[in-house]
Amino acid sequence: MAQAPITVPVTNGTLLTEQQQTYVDELKKGRFDLEWLRDPKPNWGIRAEMRKPDRGLTLQDINAAYAGEPEDKPALRTMAPRGSVVDDDLPDMGYTYNEKYQVWADNIVPLYEEATARQWSATRDIPWDELKPLPDDLERAQCQIATFLTEVEMIASDFPAKWLWQMNQHFHEVKMFLCTQAMDEARHLEVFRKRALANGGGLMRCLTGTEVFLKTILHAPTYVQGSFLMHVLGEGLILDIFRSGEFLAKNKTEKEIYRLCIQDEARHVSYGTMHLKYFLEHHPEREKAIADMHMLADVAELGIPGFLTNPYIIEPLAVLMGDGVKGIDKGMEAVRLVWVRMREEYLNRCALAGFDRRELTRVPEQAPF
Ligand SMILES: [Fe+2]
Ligand SMILES: [Fe+2]
Repeated sequence: MAQAPITVPVTNGTLLTEQQQTYVDELKKGRFDLEWLRDPKPNWGIRAEMRKPDRGLTLQDINAAYAGEPEDKPALRTMAPRGSVVDDDLPDMGYTYNEKYQVWADNIVPLYEEATARQWSATRDIPWDELKPLPDDLERAQCQIATFLTEVEMIASDFPAKWLWQMNQHFHEVKMFLCTQAMDEARHLEVFRKRALANGGGLMRCLTGTEVFLKTILHAPTYVQGSFLMHVLGEGLILDIFRSGEFLAKNKTEKEIYRLCIQDEARHVSYGTMHLKYFLEHHPEREKAIADMHMLADVAELGIPGFLTNPYIIEPLAVLMGDGVKGIDKGMEAVRLVWVRMREEYLNRCALAGFDRRELTRVPEQAPF
């Protein structure tokens, strides 16, 4: 496919613009610009204080010192740092998310700091040597869940990455947080793939319904719609599966995998919940935004029973809960309780976002199996 030629700002058939040539001529005479040395307050003389020296210099510290609060509608669409001195004719980067309510969450700054402080390595920080051979049914159950998680984790890298470049860099904290999320999810894929392949088992089955749900998120028409589907609904459900996984771990290896993934996942869910809250509270047409979001939730919730009525999720969970295939009936009772908890926690997240779904929800109170 033919590609459009790259255009570069060259004038007069030279490498330099007229203004740059004038500057070079002045430099040759030993005359410097030095305007940057004379910039006055308010953007000079700033000394951010480490308010908790044992933590180090945080984003909260520098935001408290200068240009901390983003504008609701920044005038520029550039990569120039918030609070810097800029030329009048900076190019427009073509960002499409230029209003704070479209991307922001009030907990974004501490969440980013937490994310960077809690990065871990799936190679080094998991006690892989504690992994011991398991009975075949338990190993298959662990591997089936690990396969499912390997399949779904990277949606939460792909989806934010798709929207990241479209967000105005004025809201750099959101973009930085989404970068940490993308890295977290890469590590989640890594750790579950490693678990599936590390103990005599292997990668197991993937179901069409799972891929359909992932595709819905990936191709959601707006960021907030995809964020609701992914952060609030999907990752919330995955967080509950992680909690079950930690509870059902058969060794220290699995316990540590799930414990570390829970920390990461809780941040992603927390951002999504607080973003939904910020979006709905600050949307210029608030009532309409809430009504539209209810319409989306009505449809998305109808898909939950189908998404979770997946033999490759509920049966391995039941086998682990029943401590083997012989205890699968008892295990299913526990899986039904997980359903009730998942629904309850989803409704609590919606309530926290000021988006009350309790009377409206289409998620059945009891598992349909
Ligand atoms: Fe994840
Ligand atoms: Fe996540």
